[in-house]
Amino acid sequence: MIGVFDSGFGGLTVLSSLLRELPGYDYLYLADSARAPYGSRSAEVVNEFTLEAVEWFFEQGCPLVVLACNTASARALRNIQRLHLPERWPDRRVLGVVRPSVEALAGLPVGTVAIPDQTAPSPAEGLVAVLGTTATIASDSYGIELRKLAPRLRLVQQACPLWVPLVEAGELDGPGTEYFLRKSLAPLLPPNEAPSRVLLACTHYPLLLPALRRILPAQTEIMDQGNLVAERLADWLRRHPEQEQKLTRGGGRKFVTTDDPAWFAEHGEKLLGAPIHAERVRLNRAR
Ligand code: DGL
Repeated sequence: MIGVFDSGFGGLTVLSSLLRELPGYDYLYLADSARAPYGSRSAEVVNEFTLEAVEWFFEQGCPLVVLACNTASARALRNIQRLHLPERWPDRRVLGVVRPSVEALAGLPVGTVAIPDQTAPSPAEGLVAVLGTTATIASDSYGIELRKLAPRLRLVQQACPLWVPLVEAGELDGPGTEYFLRKSLAPLLPPNEAPSRVLLACTHYPLLLPALRRILPAQTEIMDQGNLVAERLADWLRRHPEQEQKLTRGGGRKFVTTDDPAWFAEHGEKLLGAPIHAERVRLNRAR
């Protein structure tokens, strides 16, 4: 199974793109709902929680885990890839959403980036923006990667701490929501320069898309992270046949959560557009 991890149900926006792009594989989705949101937590805690989730996937036999959560990708992936995998699981892979998103933000076509050090910097110029949780923006993960791939591209990074609670509360539109959207979007709105692209670097934000589309300047492209991650994962699998061969292809989908499965299924079904049967699991220290 391909493991897909998120702090909560928002990662189903990424899973639904994976299912469209790569429908044949088996998927195991884990939502650490009992400890969500991650976006306001410290780097140390996000690291610890993400590592527990990754360990859990590996114990279930997943050869590949996708961190659909931006906060986990931004805060924990580097440690997992550099330290944890080589020491404990050298044959397994963990991928995140930051790198593929930055490739797309830099305007690099799918398939042009293989090994970061051998990548010619993109000639892209102008202004782009990344919107994310406090933890994602504080990590500067998007800035670090973008400076490598497109050093001439200017980046505005904006933390939107109230957007996840709004989505969790089902407040997707209306005057109250619009107030908080405009407040976080202020650096991207007139009289400031309009970015050519905005990346919604949080699994919850696609639910705010209709309201965001109305508020952001018409010439600003709003990037769909789920789709770009899915098409770049498909490309990664083509370039790594030795990893691809480890994946089973039964079309299975399994959903687990660390909190109430009925609550997860009810919220998740709306996002996924398909029925969900969820089970509860305990990660090492999750309560
Ligand atoms: N999944 C998180 C992300 O993409 C958003 C929710 C949270 O803060 O846990 O950053």
